[in-house]
Amino acid sequence: MELLKIENNKKEYMNLLLLADPAVEAIERYLYDGELYIFKDGADTAAAAVLYPMGDGGCELKNIAVLESLQGKGIGSEFLKRLINEASKTFTHMLVGTTSPTEGFYKSLGFEYSHTIPNFFIDNYPEPVYEDGIQCVDMRCFEIMLRKFSSI
Ligand SMILES: CC(C)(COP(=O)(O)OP(=O)(O)OC[C@H]1O[C@@H](n2cnc3c(N)ncnc32)[C@H](O)[C@@H]1OP(=O)(O)O)[C@@H](O)C(=O)NCCC(=O)NCCS
Repeated sequence: MELLKIENNKKEYMNLLLLADPAVEAIERYLYDGELYIFKDGADTAAAAVLYPMGDGGCELKNIAVLESLQGKGIGSEFLKRLINEASKTFTHMLVGTTSPTEGFYKSLGFEYSHTIPNFFIDNYPEPVYEDGIQCVDMRCFEIMLRKFSSI
C-alpha cells in the first residue's frame, strides 16, 4: 500500500471523506487548509485522511475513512500508523476528536484521552449526527505524542 499526499483536486475524494464526516460544509472547512493523504492499493484508493495544522506545533486528524468494502481488514490501522510516522516529521503531537464507537480504534494505536468538547456535534452540524443509532452530542478528544515515532 502506498501513502500519497494530494495537493490538487481534493474534492475528488469527497465521497470517501463523507464516510467519516457527514456534512460537505464541515469537510470543506478543513480540506483546503489541511493536508490530504490517501492510501492506495495499485490504482484503487482504499482510504483517505486529513491532517490539519493546529498552530501549536501539533496537528488534528480531522477525518480518516476506509472504503466501506475494505473496512475491518486492518487497512485503517496500517494507514494511521503510516500517517503517524509521516506527521512526526513535521508535528509534535496529533489530536483526534472521536465518536464513542471508534475510540477503541485510536486507543489501540496509542492515543490517550485528552479532553471533551461539550455540544460539539450540536454546534457544528446543520442536522443531528447519529453513530450506531445514538445521537452524537459531545466530542471526546484523544492525543498521541509524535516525536518518539519519528523516523528522522
Ligand atoms: C474507523 C476506520 C477508519 C477504521 O479502519 P478499519 O480498516 O476498518 O480498521 P481496522 O481493520 O484497522 O481495525 C482496527 C481496530 O479498530 C476497531 N475498529 C475499527 N473501526 C471500528 C468501529 N467503527 N467501531 C469499533 N471498533 C472499530 C477494529 O475492531 C479493530 O480492533 P481489533 O484489532 O481489536 O480487532 C473505518 O472503519 C472507517 O472508515 N469507518 C467509517 C468512518 C469513520 O468512522 N471514521 C472515523 C471518524 S472518528
